[in-house]
Amino acid sequence: MDPVSSTTYRTGAPTHSEQAGIEALIREVRAADGVDPLNENAHFALRGERPAVHWIAPTPGSPHPRGYAQWDPETRSAIIVVDPAHRREGVGRELLACVRKVTPEPTLWAFGNLPAAQTFATKVGLTETRRLLIMRRDLREHPATPSVDDVVPAGVNIDPYRPDDLSALVEVNAEAFREHPEQGELTAADFEQRMGQAWFDPEGLLLAHDDDSGRLLGFHWTKVEPREVGGEPVGEVYALAVLPEAAGRGIGRSLLAAGVRYLQDRGVAEVILYVEASNTRVVDMYRSANFVTVSSDASYS
Ligand SMILES: CC(C)(COP(=O)(O)OP(=O)(O)OC[C@H]1O[C@@H](n2cnc3c(N)ncnc32)[C@H](O)[C@@H]1OP(=O)(O)O)[C@@H](O)C(=O)NCCC(=O)NCCS
Repeated sequence: MDPVSSTTYRTGAPTHSEQAGIEALIREVRAADGVDPLNENAHFALRGERPAVHWIAPTPGSPHPRGYAQWDPETRSAIIVVDPAHRREGVGRELLACVRKVTPEPTLWAFGNLPAAQTFATKVGLTETRRLLIMRRDLREHPATPSVDDVVPAGVNIDPYRPDDLSALVEVNAEAFREHPEQGELTAADFEQRMGQAWFDPEGLLLAHDDDSGRLLGFHWTKVEPREVGGEPVGEVYALAVLPEAAGRGIGRSLLAAGVRYLQDRGVAEVILYVEASNTRVVDMYRSANFVTVSSDASYS
């Protein structure tokens, strides 16, 4: 434990009891704000499965901290979370000062981009640099039915993932997400880490191969979320990618339709996805497939 200020300390991978305290804080924040203040990478880091720097603002006499901050050296982004019962007491400002000692110009993620986060960012001199839209399709209103989108383009085959597809999958991901800071940098080990999670199902990772050459052209990785809505699981378009040279042939649309059908067959009631707001072509594709924007995440620098 390395004291940073009178009330905040910095830690390596959190111990079990620190983790439990932070997780209790995250649950409080999720209940109060209606959004998870951590993303998948941040949850991995909290469990010690990914390198990160952690700061904890303790509450005297309680295992439940007032605030928590995390900096991910790979994505060079930070997350700051303050207990709803301790907001407007300067905890957020103090945690940001700690993060700035490690990285003077941090990028901060605000999941849900709530009014408090927007005001906080303005007050501490940060401006919005990226926005991710969260889009949703209600399968009770818009079920997957056989449609033109289901027609797989000539010369292309859509099949589930097999382990010998891994290296091609990593290459196509890197190529398709070249402009995307986090997704495009995923390594084979990152893919394997995700495939090691309880939710992973190879049948839900659909690959489009070229019939003649056998080359991988694109993929749609779906995820069935453990959380439930109205007793039914929630599905996610976890990643959808097509090689730039294979764009415009309807491969993305048919991969999307095949994945949505798979999710529906798994009993999913709604499908969500995250997309870069600036990627208007892809946002339009999702809109035409009955996805609507429900909220957004923002990053501030
Ligand atoms: C955003 C968040 C971290 C702010 O934490 P905090 O401890 O309440 O913030 P501070 O008390 O240090 O406030 C710092 C400044 O932001 C302003 N501020 C923070 N929340 C505000 C709100 N709800 N309304 C108006 N101003 C607000 C404060 O007035 C303060 O400015 P001042 O000192 O000049 O008055 C907290 O609301 C939170 O945990 N939100 C959920 C997680 C999140 O969105 N994090 C991303 C942050 S970009």
